[in-house]
Amino acid sequence: AKDAVRVLVTGAAGQIGYALVPMVARGVMLGPDQPVILHMLDIEPAAEALNGVKMELIDAAFPLLKDVIATTDVVEACAGVNIAVMVGGFPRKEGMERKDVMSKNVSIYKAQASALEKHAAENCKVLVVANPANTNALILKEFAPSIPEKNITCLTRLDHNRALGQISERLDIQVSDVKNVIIWGNHSSTQYPDVSHATVTSSSGEKSVRELVADDKWLKTEFITTVQQRGAAIIKARKLSSALSAASAACDHIRDWVLGTPKGTWVSMGVYSDGSYGIPPGLIYSFPVTCEKGEWSIVKGLKIDEFSRAKMDATANELMEEKSLAYSCLN
Ligand code: NAI
Repeated sequence: AKDAVRVLVTGAAGQIGYALVPMVARGVMLGPDQPVILHMLDIEPAAEALNGVKMELIDAAFPLLKDVIATTDVVEACAGVNIAVMVGGFPRKEGMERKDVMSKNVSIYKAQASALEKHAAENCKVLVVANPANTNALILKEFAPSIPEKNITCLTRLDHNRALGQISERLDIQVSDVKNVIIWGNHSSTQYPDVSHATVTSSSGEKSVRELVADDKWLKTEFITTVQQRGAAIIKARKLSSALSAASAACDHIRDWVLGTPKGTWVSMGVYSDGSYGIPPGLIYSFPVTCEKGEWSIVKGLKIDEFSRAKMDATANELMEEKSLAYSCLN
C-alpha cells in the first residue's frame, strides 16, 4: 500500500474548507488509491467549529483517511505536510480599505510562510486559494526562500473551469469536450479569459471554439465579463461566495499538478513568472501550463494578438500595483 500523503488545509472551518476536506478524504484530489492524513488549521474563534468538522470526518468513515489533525497551532498544522492548500485569510469587510485587507493578509502569509518553510516536508507543494490569491502566494514565496518557487502556486483553476462551463453552455455541448481555454493574470476582475487557442472535440475531429461560436463580439465582451464577474454573481444568488466550485477547482489543480495533465491539454495555474509572454518576472501570474512528473511548465510559443496583448498587460499592471501595496504593508 502507498504511504499516506499529508494534506494541509488552512481555514478548514470555513465554507471552502467544509466542501474541500471531504473531497480530499474521498480521493478526489490525489486519486482513489492514495491514503491521506488531513491537517486542518483555523484560528482560535473557529476552534470549536473546526473540531466539529473533525467529528464529521470521523463519522464519514472515509477508507482513505488515515488520520485527522485539527489545530489552531500553525507549527503543528504544517509539520511534515506534502501538500498545503491555503484557504485561510482575512476577508474584506464593509468599509475596509484595500490596504487594510492587504495588510492583514500580508502578515498572515508571512507568518505561515515561515512555518511551512521550517516544518513542511521537503518538496511540499503549495496552493494559495485565499484572496488576494496571487499576491498572498507572492508573499509566501518571499518569506519561504528555501521552498523552491516552482512549488508555490495560486488558484485560477476555478476561473478556467468557469470559462469551460460558459463555452459548453453556449454551444450546448459537454464540458469535457472543451479544452485549452486560458486564464491570464490575476484572480480578480482584471483576469483575461482567452479562447483564442481553445478547441472542441467532436465526432468530426477538433474544431476551434472561435469558429464554432462564430460570434466574435460575444467572445470579446459578454463571455469575458461573465467569467470575470462570476464570483460576484454567485454571491448575489447564494448570499455566500463560491465554495463547492472553489473546492473542486482546488482538487483539479493539485491532481493535475501531481498526476499530470492529459496529453494535448493545458490548464491555468497562477505561477511565478519567468518572463514568458513578456510578463514581468517576479509576479505570480496565471499562465497556461502542462504538468508532468509533478512539475508544471508554462506552455510556450502561443500566438498573441493585439486584443489579448492589451488584456494580458492590464492584469499584469494590476498585479504590479498589488505587489507594491503588499510591500508597503511590510514596513
Ligand atoms: P470563510 O470566511 O468561510 O473561511 C475562511 C476561514 O479562514 C475561516 O474559518 C477563518 O476563521 C479562517 N482563517 C482566518 N484567518 C486565518 C489564519 N490566519 N489561519 C488559518 N485560518 C484562518 O471563507 P471561504 O468562503 O471559505 O473563502 C476562503 C478564501 O478563499 C477567501 O479569501 C476567498 O476570497 C477565497 N476564494 C478564492 C477563490 C479562488 O478562486 N482563488 C474562489 C473563492 C474564494
